[in-house]
Amino acid sequence: MLSIQGLQVFYGPIQALDNVTIEVGEAEIVSIIGSNGAGKSTLLRTVSGLVKPRSGSIEFMGTPIHGASPDKIVQMGISQSPEGRRIFTEMSVKENLLLGAYTRKDSEVGKDIEKCLDRFPRLRERFHQNAGTLSGGEQQMLAMSRALMSRPRLLLLDEPSMGLAPNLVTEIFEMVIELNGQGVTVLLVEQNAHRALEIANRGYVLETGNVVLEGAGKELLVDPKVKEAYLGG
Ligand SMILES: Nc1ncnc2c1ncn2[C@@H]1O[C@H](COP(=O)(O)OP(=O)(O)OP(=O)(O)O)[C@@H](O)[C@H]1O
Ligand SMILES: [Mg+2]
Repeated sequence: MLSIQGLQVFYGPIQALDNVTIEVGEAEIVSIIGSNGAGKSTLLRTVSGLVKPRSGSIEFMGTPIHGASPDKIVQMGISQSPEGRRIFTEMSVKENLLLGAYTRKDSEVGKDIEKCLDRFPRLRERFHQNAGTLSGGEQQMLAMSRALMSRPRLLLLDEPSMGLAPNLVTEIFEMVIELNGQGVTVLLVEQNAHRALEIANRGYVLETGNVVLEGAGKELLVDPKVKEAYLGG
């Protein structure tokens, strides 16, 4: 579904990704793990069209997208829940959700808002409240819901569990599995390597802009190098 080949990304003189090749198959959950600064967010931002690669290619359903604008990429069926949530704090929950649907022209946006509110009842209670007043966990629910409002075929999640209490982390990972069961393909970036690899069909380890390991999620979970570097030995 998504084929990333030989991707190189620079911020001025700083190289963030070096020859990254990653495949995501339809209906998969693929997890990217790696330390701070490894290039994980850069990878997702490049897929979303927010950062332009210096070289390499990204194809989605066989179509090159590495030159496309972010809104075109959303229209093609990719959406991102960004690191740090990036919700619009001065707007209501409702307005945030509507913004997630801004590329849609169909008449089912209201129906999809209902689905989000069924999925996360706390968002229903706070539907008209400013998003900036939500708790961290509720903001994460809103960020994921906003990403889903474009009806993505491929959902990019950047550290959805960051800063959340353990029970909410469990809830978020269960949600990812559920969405995947409903047919959404997921490319997940996480510092929580254990959880991320547990739910992944396949995973990649990114170190200073390079893919250093790849394999089935279950294989990586027991890999000695992954254990030592990312799973606390
Ligand atoms: N806008 C930018 N300008 C300059 N350098 C940047 C920019 N964004 C990221 N970088 C650099 O690119 C590298 C990769 O950053 P990136 O945010 O992709 O890492 P990450 O793996 O997501 O890290 P974290 O786990 O801390 O979120 C880092 O060295 C970072 O300092
Ligand atoms: Mg990041």
